[in-house]
Amino acid sequence: MFITFEGLDFCGKSTQVKMLVEYLKKKNKKIEIIREPGGTLISEKIREILLDNKNSEMSEITEMLLFAGSRSQLVDEKIIPKLNEDYYVISDRFLDSSIAYQGYGRGIDIDFVTKLQKFVVKNALPDLTFFIDIPISEVEKRKNENEIAPDRIESSENNFYNRVLEGYNKIAAAEKRFIRIDGLLTREQIHAEIVKVLNNYEQKGLENLNE
Ligand code: TYD
Repeated sequence: MFITFEGLDFCGKSTQVKMLVEYLKKKNKKIEIIREPGGTLISEKIREILLDNKNSEMSEITEMLLFAGSRSQLVDEKIIPKLNEDYYVISDRFLDSSIAYQGYGRGIDIDFVTKLQKFVVKNALPDLTFFIDIPISEVEKRKNENEIAPDRIESSENNFYNRVLEGYNKIAAAEKRFIRIDGLLTREQIHAEIVKVLNNYEQKGLENLNE
């Protein structure tokens, strides 16, 4: 099964990835954890270029292609082989991040970005995507509280995040696999929601998830 996490920076998805992994480990599942961009030697090198604050002159199209390159390597080298071995593959971000950030956020043609993503991920589309939803004001607040300096993309202004959020909402309206979870709940509440949805999915499938 392929599960991805999405949301604005500082939404808390990395914590939720860890909590879900702990839960699945207790159930003796085979698990592969991935972070995007990154996850393979080549993809981690691309990650460094993408997030380096010194690369302020990077064009939007270069950015989109580098994310796609990093992802393509990850899909071929890790995701598809692990799914074929019946692993639970869990990824902190995946194709929807490119649609939301590069498409809606940077303003690159949405249809083109989406087509490129489908080309890159082949048949490895997520079964379930947890979208941890927080308002922009909360991004600002958490950014200011954070002691680590923001990376190149986290340094973007609020209007950018507004557009990214609009993108996520559009994807949520169009894709059944995209499960919105209130990111202002406590981490335990969010985790409990995620486990509930996952169990429902495994018993009933995507079509009857809410019944
Ligand atoms: P993120 O996982 O949030 O970083 P961290 O590991 O520091 O928590 O991802 C890094 C940044 O890259 C984040 O601002 C979102 C951005 N991003 C895109 O713009 N497009 C993409 O396709 C991906 C995967 C990430």
